[in-house]
Amino acid sequence: MKVVITGGSGFIGLNLARALIGRGVLTGPSGAEEEIDSIVLFDAVPPPALPPDPDGRVTMVTGDITGREGVAAAIDRDDISVFHLASVVSGGGELDFDLAMAVNLDGARHVFEACRARAGAVRVVFASSIAVFGGAVMPETVGDATKRTPRTTYGVTKAIGELMINDYSRKGFIDGRSARLPTIIVRPGKPNQAASSFASGLFREPLNGEACDLPVDPATFMPVLGHRCCVEGLIALHEADGAALGDDRAVGLPAINRTVADMIAALRRVADAKGIALGPITHRPDPVIEKIVATWPARIDSSRALALGLPLDDSLDRVVEDYIEDFLGE
Ligand SMILES: NC(=O)c1ccc[n+]([C@@H]2O[C@H](COP(=O)([O-])OP(=O)(O)OC[C@H]3O[C@@H](n4cnc5c(N)ncnc54)[C@H](O)[C@@H]3O)[C@@H](O)[C@H]2O)c1
Repeated sequence: MKVVITGGSGFIGLNLARALIGRGVLTGPSGAEEEIDSIVLFDAVPPPALPPDPDGRVTMVTGDITGREGVAAAIDRDDISVFHLASVVSGGGELDFDLAMAVNLDGARHVFEACRARAGAVRVVFASSIAVFGGAVMPETVGDATKRTPRTTYGVTKAIGELMINDYSRKGFIDGRSARLPTIIVRPGKPNQAASSFASGLFREPLNGEACDLPVDPATFMPVLGHRCCVEGLIALHEADGAALGDDRAVGLPAINRTVADMIAALRRVADAKGIALGPITHRPDPVIEKIVATWPARIDSSRALALGLPLDDSLDRVVEDYIEDFLGE
């Protein structure tokens, strides 16, 4: 079978490709486990480097998901699964409303329509976000049954994407699943336009011996998940029995509910244990980031995801150790 990862050059897309290369099989539209013979990274930009791929299964396709034909050309087999990750991210969506609508709504529709055009119900995993929650009506702790009340354009596009996944699945056009992601840490390389980008920077920059400005109050609660569990969660959601998901196919990936201060404490513990000298972290409030982060939920109830078998890191320390093992010095 073929696997298409839109946004495949991004942080999560590349890590997902690595995991799928290692895994080698997925459940195909037939319902049976099939060998993956092709993994296409569909993205507007090429990745810095393709993941190690001894069997030559990975291909990069440079394309824009706002173009319907290009998306349909990539989704060109019936024995296919799609992980739809391409997106304008939160800060970017606040800067450019029209781009967020074009990429996140029109683009998603192109992906879902291309899957619908295939024979059988193609499994589609859509990367949503906890930014579907927000505002005054949002409870302290959100779960899969909490009302979606997004307070950013990005969150609105993700909420609509989740509803499209539900309806395309209800109609039998696709077999869709939405993975509602908390902030995924630790992103290697450069920061991106996500308002949550600082949550990776506060680990990454000090571990590189560089200074880091913290734009939010250290007492801020922020649900996070490590990059390994994120990727394993996306795959587990792909593999989950569609019937077990019921009518609402949006599942919040499990999250660690801790404060920014807890994250810094974990970083210091791991760095001390490994003898790594950290760069300084300075609290410099950024009202724009603070305003966006204040619209996000403080805590996530992960019980449905955990019951479905989706993984959760056992500690923040483990997340830091995984980053050091996978990326430090890259
Ligand atoms: N990383 C997180 O903390 C997090 C949290 C919640 C949700 N998500 C969601 O997970 C998905 C992946 O996130 P990520 O962290 O890997 O983001 P990323 O920015 O690293 O990757 C997104 C990729 O999408 C590509 N892209 C953007 N517009 C495109 C277009 N028009 N056509 C084709 N490709 C396009 C970008 O080039 C980029 O490579 C996104 O949908 C994001 O909204 C991520």
